[in-house]
Amino acid sequence: MLQEIYQPNPHYASTAAIKNMDEYHALMNKAKEDYEGFWGDYAKEKIDWFKPFDTVLNESEAPFYKWFEGGQLNVAHQCIDRHLLTRKNKAAIIFEGDNGDQQVLTYRELAYEVNRTANMFKNQFGITKGDRVVLYMPMIPEAAISMLACAKIGAIHSVVFGGFSAEALRDRIIDAEAKLVVTSDGAYRKGNPYMLKPVVDEALSKGCECVQAVCVVERNGEEIHWEPGRDYAYNELVKNESPKCAAEPMESEDPLFLLYTSGSTGKPKGVQHSSAGYILWAQMTMEWVFDLKENDTYWCTADVGWITGHTYIVYGPLAAGATTVMFEGVPTFPDAGRCWRMVEEYQVNQFYTAPTAIRLLHKTGQDEPKKYDLSSLRVLGTVGEPIDPAAWKWYYEEIGGSKCAIVDTYWQTETGGHMISPLPGATPIKPACATFALPGIIAEVIDEEGNPAPIGEKGFMCITKPWPSMIRTIWGDPERFVKSYFGDCKKDGKPVYFTGDGAMIDEEGYITITGRTDDVINVSGHRMGTAEVEAAIKKHSNVAAVAVVGKPHPIKGEGIFAYIVLKSEESLAEEIELTKEINNIIKKEIGAIALCDDIVFVPDLPKTRSGKIMRRILRSIVKNEEITQDTSTLEDPSIVGKIESIVKSCRL
Ligand code: WT7
Repeated sequence: MLQEIYQPNPHYASTAAIKNMDEYHALMNKAKEDYEGFWGDYAKEKIDWFKPFDTVLNESEAPFYKWFEGGQLNVAHQCIDRHLLTRKNKAAIIFEGDNGDQQVLTYRELAYEVNRTANMFKNQFGITKGDRVVLYMPMIPEAAISMLACAKIGAIHSVVFGGFSAEALRDRIIDAEAKLVVTSDGAYRKGNPYMLKPVVDEALSKGCECVQAVCVVERNGEEIHWEPGRDYAYNELVKNESPKCAAEPMESEDPLFLLYTSGSTGKPKGVQHSSAGYILWAQMTMEWVFDLKENDTYWCTADVGWITGHTYIVYGPLAAGATTVMFEGVPTFPDAGRCWRMVEEYQVNQFYTAPTAIRLLHKTGQDEPKKYDLSSLRVLGTVGEPIDPAAWKWYYEEIGGSKCAIVDTYWQTETGGHMISPLPGATPIKPACATFALPGIIAEVIDEEGNPAPIGEKGFMCITKPWPSMIRTIWGDPERFVKSYFGDCKKDGKPVYFTGDGAMIDEEGYITITGRTDDVINVSGHRMGTAEVEAAIKKHSNVAAVAVVGKPHPIKGEGIFAYIVLKSEESLAEEIELTKEINNIIKKEIGAIALCDDIVFVPDLPKTRSGKIMRRILRSIVKNEEITQDTSTLEDPSIVGKIESIVKSCRL
């Protein structure tokens, strides 16, 4: 274990937004003494309101908290139009394609593009305030432009990650009752074109009555099917539209977007975010956590299909008036130096990625960083999963030249923005530790009743006061919202937000996230619900029962491990065939991101007499840990030994 403490680089600390721990504590104390004053002041200072808000926080319908009621704003105005006074010719988006394409959009150009697209949505497709628009897009500027165009006219976007299957896309389109789908013919990946439009065609083929039109951006020019009266060419339509478009005045609490994410049970949940609270925190954390300066170039490698892409590629950077880099492709093509070449090329100052990418690049391209000039880097970020000390050290030394702060940012789709993270100019960093809650965020590690977890012992990671960028509800299912997030932990008798993660606090108050306490697997920094994967596997006609658990994986963090009970016993050759069939079903139902790393066929699952599957035992077996659970309550205690020996024989 690395136990060293890394002090902030004094060169950067002197000019950082938060310069030392005293400043941090002063801000935190201000928030604790006058919570509404703290947030109200920032909201006034940071947001260009069309109409000022009346109240800061309304808790009367808790946990349906309302922030900045009475205020009116427009997020696209906040991200683009207001910058035209001072930053009109500054680069807003720098794009680099998998095929080497480059494009730089200034704030002025971005404003024109967003306005044309917003006008197209309005005039050609009849999209108005509150309508839902699904974006199934690759990583091209039009993805960001479409998101901002929705914001401009008050439409609610729901971006679906391009790796999800037609079935998964269809479910999300139907749940959101989307009127319009925006997609592209496809894009490029590892030097080859890949397709998106055919997936949309398939998703809509079984009837999605809500969808009135599909708007297709041309990216790779490959042949695609056109459905007359439904499909429209973005590039043709958009050029006839006016580059001027008035921003729709939005109430603070009007939804900005939905983003579907996995829970421990059931179908993915449409996490609903607000306009004012969301954009406020996106902007503030950009400034604090990445220590953004006016001439910086900032690059987050995420995909816009995830919350990281929403908050830290599009909304946060643009609200803060930054230059944000978007890249299409993968970090290992044309070689494992792609990221470092791009850092040199664009003189990137902040680089933000997932531990899984760091581990991959460490493993496959250890010598690549040395080939490039990485001296522009000032802040390095990680997100999505715990980072292990070995990866941390490589990132710190080889990428950051032992001079950059590493911000290990802990947050979730539901939190909208960072919750716990080092501040680059202030926080003495312990490697692989998310450190402290950001000013204004009241994060506590507690038990179900709200008692603080003893030092060094695991507790529940809760955010015990509402914060502006928090999830507002689950689209169409407010009961599930309350149950999912406010059902487990209480403080002072009142339900508080539980993240689903476990955490530990050390003697100095540093918080280390220990991982999910529920049945959610973290695969390469992406959340995967075991229930979803199990539901897909159960669609195979020969599957009687299935349990899916996470298995530690050297690159991905966790891999997906499935225990399957078949209806009829099969030969080994049959089992190999079945494995393929099952993975094909997963690919069809969810997408390649949910493929199982391992499938084992077992005679039965460890079940209690009431029929509950003891997943903990299954997790222990996969990790090769000693089984500490009491197995005597099982319906058939001998099954544990049988499963263990099957898993062991697979390992050999
Ligand atoms: C889950 C949220 C936040 C954007 C990407 C993932 C895990 C996230 C960290 C971190 C340890 C982390 C948690 C969390 N997680 N960041 N820095 N250290 N774990 O968003 O898909 O909503 O997943 O990712 O388990 O609950 P998400």
